[in-house]
Amino acid sequence: MDNCSVDNGEDLAVHAGNKKIPQHVAIIMDGNGRWAQLQGKGRVSGHKAGVESVRAVVASARKSNVKALTLFAFSSENWQRPVKEVGVLMDLFMYVLTKEVKRLHKHNIRFQVIGDLSRFSEKLQKNITKSEQLTAENTGLVLSIAANYGGRWDIAQAAKKLAFKVQQGSMKLDDIDELTLNEQTCLADLPTLDLLIRTGGDFRISNFLMWQAAYAELYFTDILWPDFKEAQFEQALNCFDQRERRFGKTGEQARNEEV
Ligand code: IPE
Ligand code: IPE
Ligand code: MG
Repeated sequence: MDNCSVDNGEDLAVHAGNKKIPQHVAIIMDGNGRWAQLQGKGRVSGHKAGVESVRAVVASARKSNVKALTLFAFSSENWQRPVKEVGVLMDLFMYVLTKEVKRLHKHNIRFQVIGDLSRFSEKLQKNITKSEQLTAENTGLVLSIAANYGGRWDIAQAAKKLAFKVQQGSMKLDDIDELTLNEQTCLADLPTLDLLIRTGGDFRISNFLMWQAAYAELYFTDILWPDFKEAQFEQALNCFDQRERRFGKTGEQARNEEV
């Protein structure tokens, strides 16, 4: 089940010609642990299986011409998990960085990590910087991985940067507004977030992109992350295509602007 007004892809085929494609999609990749438990395995195997879904969704996003894909891999709250699970997630992160980034580079993907990286090991931080540098000039899909990321942290660090500018005298207090604060948040250089997907059946943001999701379309599905592949991503895009985005205007105004 998902919260789409249409429940299957078939009757959407007519829209295929001029489908509305979100420029920026973000995903809360949830449900790895439950997926593993359903298979009678430990939670770790769910995280490992989840990497395959990341590959599938990246491929699908490229194919659909999505410009930016942002994936929630580890929240600032996830440190509270058992030490062993955190360790496995860090190892997996390291593995993906070493093994997958070359492939991303080959596909012209710009890779970056957002979040408070200072809490990661020095080795992991170096690996992140190396991966970001390798792909920095790429012009295709921008893939952002949110790690030790929190939406509240993002807003607080942006506020701190502005406060510093005012303190230094390079900015006036009156120049602080939504635009200047936005410039200091993560992902400010990317298209506005259009679609936020959460897998795993829960209906919450879990401190993800709170600022950026202000006018994003929200898509919740029961599908557990390791089962979310190209077809499921396309279903979410089809659902987005059906949404009427009004941005405060009337439906009539919005529809007139669309044509
Ligand atoms: C999401 O899956 C991955 C991370 C949060 C790192 P979970 O590990 O939260 O899976 P569930 O929600 O327990 O099934
Ligand atoms: C959100 O999932 C974080 C990631 C997917 C990385 P959680 O499983 O940590 O979310 P809660 O704790 O159920 O809200
Ligand atoms: Mg979870």
